[in-house]
Amino acid sequence: MFKIGNVEVNELVERFNTPLYVYDENKIIDSIREYKKGLQSSKYETLVIYASKAFACLHMYKIAKQENIGVDVVSGGELYGAMKVGVDPNKIFFHGNNKTEDEMDLALNYKVKNIMVDNLDELKIWLKKAEKIDYKLDIMFRINVGVSAHTHAYVITSHPDSKFGFYIESKDIHEGIEMIKKAKNVEFMGFHSHIGSQIFDMQGFMIAIEKIFDLIKKEKIQPRYLNLGGGAGVRYTDEDKPLALEEFAKEIIDKVDSELCKNNLTIEKLFIEPGRSLVAEAGYTLYTINKTKKALHKTYYFIDGGMADNIRPALYQAKYACDVANKMEEPKINKVSIAGKCCESGDVIIEDVMLPSVVENDILVVYSTGAYGYSMSSNYNKLPRPAIVFVKGNEAKLAVRRETYENLYVNDVEGE
Ligand code: LLP
Repeated sequence: MFKIGNVEVNELVERFNTPLYVYDENKIIDSIREYKKGLQSSKYETLVIYASKAFACLHMYKIAKQENIGVDVVSGGELYGAMKVGVDPNKIFFHGNNKTEDEMDLALNYKVKNIMVDNLDELKIWLKKAEKIDYKLDIMFRINVGVSAHTHAYVITSHPDSKFGFYIESKDIHEGIEMIKKAKNVEFMGFHSHIGSQIFDMQGFMIAIEKIFDLIKKEKIQPRYLNLGGGAGVRYTDEDKPLALEEFAKEIIDKVDSELCKNNLTIEKLFIEPGRSLVAEAGYTLYTINKTKKALHKTYYFIDGGMADNIRPALYQAKYACDVANKMEEPKINKVSIAGKCCESGDVIIEDVMLPSVVENDILVVYSTGAYGYSMSSNYNKLPRPAIVFVKGNEAKLAVRRETYENLYVNDVEGE
């Protein structure tokens, strides 16, 4: 029987039913600590910031708080969750290309300190709002450095058309810095860059760092902060060969140090902002296999979830690995595809995987579903979202309840 932490999955299924998201809490904590270990310098402070879009629930925010890391939020909803468990507002980094005024006001009410500004229109609104506050906002600009990285390759895109950030050659950067100098209760702290996600090749990061330093020289500024975003790749299947997180962080530090030295500059703080690599491999989805079907050329195992709880295969052709959790030792003699229960042909979670023969109520475990799974889930076909359980050693604790049918209609006005 497959175990998560020290808990056998049949016990989890009996207690919490399926589909079920399960997180191994110790794995998350280990990953945070690995990053911290690698991200150390004697010349400046460092902070690991959790990009909470990867997976947000109150218990996850609590882990971030307990481990004393920062939290990246991109919406009022994420901000609200982080504040609800008492994350220090000085450690919250507020991102987003189109923050609404309501979201900005919420951040100011909470006295959120670090504002990651995406564009000049947004900056103007912050500057106006800052006139009326009783603390100082630390402002960083998100820069589109013209490098984008995807999985195994990086491309230097010289087009300025991304929806994110100030394009590195845009005059808006200089204009924005000048505007901040004249404004009240704000200070320009430095630049941020995020080049993509699920990246295995460090080359893209290295070029991005060089480009940020070129910009610093061009603007003749002495930045106090530098934020190099997230993006470290994780292992979904055997094809993925990620760098150890400590190694990843060390390579970033080494490059920043060499650029600081080369340019005779200093910084006070260096941030990185991982999401996926803190939670993906700590997360598992458990499903019940209800039925099988032999089509002309394919055999399907039908599970009681699918694209509503994990849209990534349908949206990105993302690959996952799986096992029949109660038949770990049995020979994998059948080539099958794992299909969900949504009324959509694209609802196939895994294509062509070798698994043992199954009977009704066998349990399927899908690995590495901890990032961008639950957080991108939907109620398509009016499927209630799964429950979320955290396992820590021998203990399993419910963190988010399974949605009920009643929950699905709670906002409908009809029937009140
Ligand atoms: N910082 C910023 C500004 C970001 O936009 C992101 C991710 C991160 C940090 C965290 O990146 P990570 O370490 O997780 O790669 N839904 C997609 C991924 C979208 C990533 C968006 N930004 C997926 O499921 O693959």
